Amino acid sequence: MRGRLVAGNWKSNGNLASNQRLLEQVRGEASRLRGVECAVCVPYPYLSQTQQMLTGTAAVWGGQDVSQFGAGAFTGAVTAAMLVEFGCRYAIVGHSERRNVFGESDAVVAAKFAAAMTAGLTPILCVGETLQERETGVTEQVVGRQLDAVISGAGIAALGKAVVAYEPVWAIGTGKTATPEQAQAVHGFIRNRIAVSDVAVAAALRILYGGSVKAANAAQLFGKPDIDGGLIGGASLVAEEFTAICRAAERR
Ligand code: 13P
Repeated sequence: MRGRLVAGNWKSNGNLASNQRLLEQVRGEASRLRGVECAVCVPYPYLSQTQQMLTGTAAVWGGQDVSQFGAGAFTGAVTAAMLVEFGCRYAIVGHSERRNVFGESDAVVAAKFAAAMTAGLTPILCVGETLQERETGVTEQVVGRQLDAVISGAGIAALGKAVVAYEPVWAIGTGKTATPEQAQAVHGFIRNRIAVSDVAVAAALRILYGGSVKAANAAQLFGKPDIDGGLIGGASLVAEEFTAICRAAERR
């Protein structure tokens, strides 16, 4: 049976004092969870604080992005090796905000995925369609293209060591969650598409849902067969909400 994962994506939020309170709650909750891994993906400057507070606990952490390059003259870029040095297990790659606000192409996302894998990080590969793409009926083409870009670069076996997050762009930060049925349809599509190349990889892959997940809707989403947890934005900043979402991911 696939393990569950609930990962908070703090985005550009937090400060030392509020992080401290939040991380105290997260590490307490993580130790009580059964069958659910609890992760926080924090802004780079807070990796040191996160490492200090979560080392030796059941909670794990990661970056929200990673450079596609190694060390060198790449101003502003943070390498996968640096994330490893700060104890990260995960790195989000291809978040829609990176794709749409910072203009990252499928090729750049694939290169970041490969850089993360090579360094021993587990990439959380985000895929998802915009509202316009959904309304014009091309959701599966878009998600398929985003997956294929990574698979053709890194290979299907690499995907077996990664996590995929389906995050419909129209559901991110909008309060408009995909229905459990809408999410399951795309999660099933993702798993089936990967099964065409490798049945075992598809069966073992954790596919998270992201987009306006809250304590109030988490259990219904996590009740669907191909939804293995969540990637949580706004609600991950509120300790009671985030810990309740983690508990909702426990199998009953
Ligand atoms: P919200 O949970 O704020 O909608 O954000 C989702 C997300 O982008 C997580 O990566």
